[in-house]
Amino acid sequence: MMLRYLTAGAALAAMVAVGPVTAKPIVIKFSHVVAENTPKGQMASKFKDLVAERLQGKVEVEVYPNSQLFGDNRVLEAILLGDVQMSAPSLSKFKRYTKKLQLFDLPFLFSDMAAAERFQKSPAGVKLLSSMNKKGLMGLGYLHNGMKQLSASEPLRVPGDARNLKFRIQSSDVLAAQFKAVHAVPLKKPFSEAFTLLQTRAIDGQENTWSNIYSKKFFEVQPYITESNHGLLDYMVVTSTEFWMDLPQDVRVEVQKALDEAIVFGNQVAAEKSIADRQKIIDSGRSEVIEFTPKQLGMWKKVMKPVWKKFEGEIGKELIEAARRSNK
Ligand code: SIN
Repeated sequence: MMLRYLTAGAALAAMVAVGPVTAKPIVIKFSHVVAENTPKGQMASKFKDLVAERLQGKVEVEVYPNSQLFGDNRVLEAILLGDVQMSAPSLSKFKRYTKKLQLFDLPFLFSDMAAAERFQKSPAGVKLLSSMNKKGLMGLGYLHNGMKQLSASEPLRVPGDARNLKFRIQSSDVLAAQFKAVHAVPLKKPFSEAFTLLQTRAIDGQENTWSNIYSKKFFEVQPYITESNHGLLDYMVVTSTEFWMDLPQDVRVEVQKALDEAIVFGNQVAAEKSIADRQKIIDSGRSEVIEFTPKQLGMWKKVMKPVWKKFEGEIGKELIEAARRSNK
């Protein structure tokens, strides 16, 4: 009897010393490849802050920028393996999981960001978020960066100016075809390698948004930037279906709400940066910014248009038509 009281007393003493056992928070590792002062970087920090405010002790978001953890070539696999839980690769980087998202790479598809937004919010755009569910990946939302510009060691005014120049591209067959259409040489390389390749003149150019050209300092090593607005660079925030469905229902709802709000914030940052970073580049005097005349623009559109036909079978004619209709 005495022993029983002693044991119970010891257990109570241990609890007082250590405190009650508490469940560990669920950790969401968010890995991405861009700098923190970009639309995606800002969206990820906002998401982290909102989750910390609303789900304290239940969920914790850890953000890993600048390809610190994984480049985009490995991050989707890492999500499926549970090494990280979220990322937001560019829409050009999902080819291994779905061919449908190649849609977003078609040259001159969207006339501006408002058109891209309208399409992403349309039933056809929303449906694409679940296009990889069978492969274990779930799209939680789109995030904007902006329209892409062409930078190069030579001034690019007409399509013939790009002939034989080497361009770093994301891992997309559509983007490869787009550069082949102007007789340039596309090279699929990770984002983290682009600056060094440009600086050492191993390649001649690349395509990207104002915010990426500014934050990764491409403008310091590229004397010309053509304001071509020829394509879209947006993102899909993704997670693994398994991780997502395993979250308690109430937590899942709150995490999605925080993410939706962070995306709205990130989209505002994107809109502001595409104006501000363009201006900072011009003010730096390091790159000359070239604008197309209407005739030159027409030439680029014409020469790149056959790329649409080439990928129509993989993407789907109706989907292309739905996206095209979002241009007013
Ligand atoms: C990104 O914005 O996430 C990277 C885009 C690129 O690879 O060019």
